[in-house]
Parts: sequence; structure tokens; C-alpha cells
Amino acid sequence: MSARSRDRRVYLGSHPVLFALLAATRRRPVTRLGRTLLIHDREAFVAGLTRIPLDRTAPGTTGGAAGRLTGGDLLFDQQGDDHRQTRRATSDALGATGVQRLRPLWTGLLDRRLEPLADGGRVDLVPVAAEIAGTTAAALVGAAVDGPELADAARAAAAAAARDHLPGLRRRGTADVARAATERLTALVAPDGGSEAGLATMLAVAAITTTVAALPRAAAWACDADLWAYADSPALADELLRVTAPTPLLPRVAAEAGELPGGCPVRAGDRMLLVARHAVDAHRGEPDPERPAPARTAQLVFGAGPHACPGARLARVQVADMLRALAPYRPVVVRARVDRRSALPSWRSLVVRAS
Ligand code: HEM
Repeated sequence: MSARSRDRRVYLGSHPVLFALLAATRRRPVTRLGRTLLIHDREAFVAGLTRIPLDRTAPGTTGGAAGRLTGGDLLFDQQGDDHRQTRRATSDALGATGVQRLRPLWTGLLDRRLEPLADGGRVDLVPVAAEIAGTTAAALVGAAVDGPELADAARAAAAAAARDHLPGLRRRGTADVARAATERLTALVAPDGGSEAGLATMLAVAAITTTVAALPRAAAWACDADLWAYADSPALADELLRVTAPTPLLPRVAAEAGELPGGCPVRAGDRMLLVARHAVDAHRGEPDPERPAPARTAQLVFGAGPHACPGARLARVQVADMLRALAPYRPVVVRARVDRRSALPSWRSLVVRAS
């Protein structure tokens, strides 16, 4: 099976209608459907995140979901000075020095968890990614909690919140399920409550859901396309993050009227579906570590402007370290199951063995 066909299964299994709609409209830079704009073009994507004033608390947006999940006023849904202050606090931990300090957490884990491959054994990379994500997030928020348990709680909270805010999919009781899942997560990251509890909860969700989606998808692609010869090149991780675009769609709402490049008007209250997957050309061509896409394109998988992902460096290093740890085994995929319930397109299990 080609790497691209396998990776497409994570969309078809979890978000088939959305995937079909995005594929059908992608030839036009921007498509208006009533009050919703589907934005595929790279320049329009950047403008949507940087030039159009956004309503960061609107329901159905990332900020709105984060606010509902945690009580609000946390990075995603903040603006101006409050936002800058909270960002400063997180960016120290996620800067170059912070990431190097955290790194032994996952390099040690990778060595141990991949060991069975040496004797012909099989390893499911999804629990490995969850343990890496959970252990890292626990260290980041200073919580004395088991990594896999934290990852499980964060993934459950994100999945329940996504189901709760998707129109049409909402069923009776989803709000209660979402609330209970969030309470379980908050009790793990901040057992004593306090003013930092919301921020810790939000950080855990932002870091864990993305990492658990990203690491196994990148590994599957490297297995299927046999990219192991490039494992020492930093370009491999960047290219795999680009073609998998782990957060493929950023839902935002315009707070004020504006205009996108190409002259497309945006009205206050318009919903913008910013398609990161198409802005970075994830749907075209193969990842090429010898001729990688320009950095300014590749980095758009982490958004743009003042709210761009503060965890980008951490995520890149984790993907690169996982690929380097796998490379000596030149693994192949023996079984892959899609996670139909997760908030982001993801594998539920991805079992590999040495080739
Ligand atoms: C491959 C993994 C990841 C991807 C693809 C990703 C992607 C994104 C994207 C697209 C945004 C929105 C940016 C925007 O609105 O312009 C974002 C925001 C954010 N991400 Fe990540 N992320 C990843 C990993 C992480 C990790 C590991 C952490 C924490 C350790 C993290 C923490 C955050 C936070 C806190 C925000 C909100 C920032 C703000 O609103 O100021 N992310 N991420």
C-alpha cells in the first residue's frame, strides 16, 4: 500500500464527509457556502490567521472549544496583553533550552519501548506516542501523574469536546460526557485546583492530541515510503509533518469585516475553515527530504501570527527523535486501525516490526 493511500484512511475513517467536501472545493482558493468560507489558498490561509480580526471565543472555533473545556481566558481564546503574558510563561518551557531539558524523557522511553523490534517482535506505536505525549505534558505542567493515564484523559476530553461542539452530531448527554471527561483531566493535572488549573488542562490537550496524531502518522509514512535512509536529516521530520498536517483544519470566526488576498470579502461573524492541509500542499507530491518545501510553507502546519503553535519546536524534535530511534530496524507496518472517535485524524493502533 502506498504511504499516501494508507494515510488517507485516517481521514476517511473519522471525517469522511468533511474530507470529501474539502477535496471537492480545493481547486478554488476560497469558496463561500453561505456564511462559511472554505479557505485553501496559502496566502488566504495566512491572512485569515493574521490579518482578519478573529472572535477567539466563538463556539465551534479552537478558542471557543478551549474556553468551554477549561473555563476560558487561556491562550487560544485570549487577545492582546493577556495573551502575550500567558505566552511568555509557556514559551520559556517550550524554547530550545526547555526542549533539550525535556528530551531525555522521550529518548529514554523510545529506547525501551522499541526494544522488542530487535528480536523480531511487534510494537504498537500509538501507545508509545501516547506515553511520550503524556509524560512530556506531565513534566511541562509539573504534575506527578503517570504519562499514559494523562494521555488517556486528555484524548478522552478532546474527543468528547469535539463531539459536543460538532453541529449535527450532538446527542443528548454529550455535554455531560464532555464535562466529566474534562473534570477527570483537570483533577490529574491540577489536583489542588488553583488559578493555573485551566491553563494546565488546555496545555495537556493541545500537546497530547496533536502528538498522538502526529507521531504514528509520520512513522507510518516513513515505513511505507521506506524513508529510513533520511532519518538523520532534520528535513525528514519537517516534510512528514507537512504532508500529514496533523491539525488539517483550523476553524475560526471573523470578529470584523476584512478582505482576503484575491479580493474575497469577509464579513463580521463569517466562519472561516482554514485548511492547513492545502495551505502546505500536503495533498500534492511526496515528502522529499532532499528538496524540502520552503520553511515558511512547512511551518504553516503550526499556524501563523501571534497565536502560532508554541509547541512546534518540541513537536519537531519528538518526531525527529522517533524516526531516528526507529530507523535502525527499518520497520514496516503490519497492522493499522483508524481511530474513529478522536478529535484529530489519527491511528488507533499502528503495529510495526523490523524488516
Ligand atoms: C505536531 C504537533 C502539533 C501541531 C500540528 C500543532 C498545531 C497547532 C496549531 C495549528 C495551532 C493554532 C495556531 C494558530 O492559531 O495560528 C496550535 C496552537 C497551540 N499549540 Fe500546537 N501543535 C502541535 C503540538 C503542540 C505541543 C506539543 C504543544 C505543547 C507542548 C502545543 C501547544 C499549543 C498551544 C498552547 C497553542 C495555542 C497558542 C495560542 O493560542 O497562543 N502544540 N498548535
